[in-house]
Amino acid sequence: MTEIDLRDVITIESLSFSIPWNEAMFKSELSLDYSHNFTLRLSVNGTGDVLLGYICFWVFHGEAHLLNIAVQPDYRRMGLGTQLMRFFIDFCRSKKVETITLDVRSSNDPAIEMYRKVGFRKVGLRPHYYADNGEDALIMGLKLKAKIGR
Ligand SMILES: CC(C)(COP(=O)(O)OP(=O)(O)OC[C@H]1O[C@@H](n2cnc3c(N)ncnc32)[C@H](O)[C@@H]1OP(=O)(O)O)[C@@H](O)C(=O)NCCC(=O)NCCS
Repeated sequence: MTEIDLRDVITIESLSFSIPWNEAMFKSELSLDYSHNFTLRLSVNGTGDVLLGYICFWVFHGEAHLLNIAVQPDYRRMGLGTQLMRFFIDFCRSKKVETITLDVRSSNDPAIEMYRKVGFRKVGLRPHYYADNGEDALIMGLKLKAKIGR
């Protein structure tokens, strides 16, 4: 992801979340060395590459945290979210990450099911975490590698 992508990213973001990130938030992520931000582009009907999804995550000290993932609404349920997650997990493996975590709204069944299918399990709860409706956040985690001696 680069600043050139932000117009398309923000369009998808605003269609995807009740509290969407704004341009300044994406720009801030693009400026951090531990923040990794990727887009998924596909050629649609021969019209050239179209930005259909993106993923943002942090990697630091053997841990990774997913911050944001979304797919353009018309292209959901086609496996693109799973592709982004598999890319993320492979990226983490290449950086020797041992543990990945993420937060997800407890009502977000599509996302929870996608995370479960790529191996994440519920590891905790943040009660009343979301400011707009007081909804809980589920914390989900994936262990990539056991620590020696554990
Ligand atoms: C979550 C999201 C990224 C999934 O993207 P996607 O491209 O539709 O996901 P996939 O097609 O790879 O779906 C993988 C699996 O997740 C589950 N899933 C996805 N969407 C679902 C839905 N609407 N209802 C039920 N299960 C769903 C299914 O098990 C699906 O596998 P299947 O299609 O073989 O049954 C997409 O719904 C999205 O952008 N949502 C809004 C943003 C968001 O909530 N992000 C997560 C924040 S924590």
